[in-house]
Amino acid sequence: MKLGRLNHIGVATPSIADSIIYWRDVMGAAHISEPFDMPEQGVKVCFVDTPNHGAMNGTQIELIEPLNSDSLIHGFLAKNPLGGQHHICFEVPDIMAAKAEFEALGKRILGEPRIGAHGTMIFFVHPKDMGGMLTEIMESPKS
Ligand code: CO
Repeated sequence: MKLGRLNHIGVATPSIADSIIYWRDVMGAAHISEPFDMPEQGVKVCFVDTPNHGAMNGTQIELIEPLNSDSLIHGFLAKNPLGGQHHICFEVPDIMAAKAEFEALGKRILGEPRIGAHGTMIFFVHPKDMGGMLTEIMESPKS
């Protein structure tokens, strides 16, 4: 594994609408995407941009709200009613190569690689194998 760009920090929230107000009015975020549903994951998501650095896009904040009580985020919010930091996401050039490398190190991959909110393949690695951090690995967008 070669550490890639920090693509986003996932933040769980009981209300994306309220979180958008916070990021806009308290933190001064100028670019916030329209929220959209990802029904297969049981979540609604929305991205808050942080400023760009050079040619690279800035790291984003991914706001995640549960769509129903089956959502994994639902359990997180039961323990953390205000929401909060949920996962961190790093980019890799090749998702299947990264999966093989983590597995060779004995790290537990949660489910199979799947299409993430940015339209590229992602997987999650178990927080207990990652210093307590739920870690999302995402293939870099090609363009
Ligand atoms: Co994410």
